[in-house]
Amino acid sequence: MNKRQFLRIAGGGLIAAAGATTLPGCSSAMPAEAIAAWQSPPASLDIRRWVLAHALLAPNAHNLQGWLVDLDTPDVIVLRMDLTRLLPETDPWSRQLVISQGTFLELLDMAARERGYRAEIEMFPQGQFDARAPDSRPTASIRLVRDAQIQPDPLFAHVLRRHTHRGLYESRSPAPAAVQALAASVLGLPVRFGVVTAAEPAQMQQHRDIAMQAWRIELVTPRTLLESYKVLRIGPKEIAQHRDGLSLNTPFVRALTALGLFDRSQASAPDSQAITGQISEFNAKIASTPAYVWLSSERNDRTTQLLSGRAYVRLQLAATAHGLSMHPLSQALQELPEQAQNYKAIHQLLGAGQGTSTVQMWTRLGYAAATEPSPRRGLQAHLAKS
Ligand SMILES: Cc1cc2nc3c(=O)[nH]c(=O)nc-3n(C[C@H](O)[C@H](O)[C@H](O)COP(=O)(O)O)c2cc1C
Repeated sequence: MNKRQFLRIAGGGLIAAAGATTLPGCSSAMPAEAIAAWQSPPASLDIRRWVLAHALLAPNAHNLQGWLVDLDTPDVIVLRMDLTRLLPETDPWSRQLVISQGTFLELLDMAARERGYRAEIEMFPQGQFDARAPDSRPTASIRLVRDAQIQPDPLFAHVLRRHTHRGLYESRSPAPAAVQALAASVLGLPVRFGVVTAAEPAQMQQHRDIAMQAWRIELVTPRTLLESYKVLRIGPKEIAQHRDGLSLNTPFVRALTALGLFDRSQASAPDSQAITGQISEFNAKIASTPAYVWLSSERNDRTTQLLSGRAYVRLQLAATAHGLSMHPLSQALQELPEQAQNYKAIHQLLGAGQGTSTVQMWTRLGYAAATEPSPRRGLQAHLAKS
């Protein structure tokens, strides 16, 4: 690679170019300590810690893992949002982060069932957050009660295998039986499940257009781009040190970073190779996507957002059970002036226009080669210091 090429892609385009070049002797594997949480915890662990060890594997926005738990009262877990881990630019009302509390609760509940406990969950025991700002009140208080009648949940078997897949997907459509299982997985929760496949080409094209447009805006809006750069963890050392955020571990990106050619404090110009490269990589993923699924809800209060999170992880576990991968596309759902047009377009397309309902999750769905787990900080990092 000549120097000019090297400099041209520095500052973000390296993400697009990442797979293109490899350096000998440099592994892209995740550092073992960053993904240690994906091993089954020992059954001898205290029940609260055992269920929490599963809950912290939940999908969550930007992998910030903003879950604080308080174990001061025996048999009780009090869950709060970590207010130091917010996303003010891309999630200004913390809707995605409240959804991410819900994904945690659902896995906690499933893990408790697995061990013969009923998780008595009281959502927002001290009242719901304001619609625009979370606060330090608990999102849930959970009491674990032994219950001989409790039914295990078959989706639990897939908790350790569920991973967000951001790569290319195969072109074949999801099997109808799998789609039915996805729809069934969220029954009883206050969400509407929707799906589109190649059987509806005009609709698919609209999904593609909105996804690509919204991603472009995320990249050319300096404040949203920089928010992701802030939580980029590049190379095994940073990944192992933080065990959160968005991991980049290809030798090419690591080399550029080591040489000081990727400055994460600066947003790249919209017409730079840096940005256009990332856009074309994303567009190729969208082009490869054989289906999209979504969850919308009539209400958009904090309890509904929590329950949408419970629904989302169930959906992804059902997909995992059927060999399908998912990749959420949150950009068009973000409550930002820059995304207003895409927000309107996706809501109209999904039958949620004019404020009739809120699209809580919208994701790619398809078959794909296996992907790696993402890092987790581990239980100790979530225990509130009293
Ligand atoms: C509310 C919410 C929004 C998300 N939005 C995106 C997104 O826009 N793009 C993306 O690549 N992943 C998105 N994700 C997936 C997370 O980045 C992912 O869950 C996290 O990095 C942890 O990885 P894992 O799911 O493989 O455990 C979202 C997840 C949740 C729960």
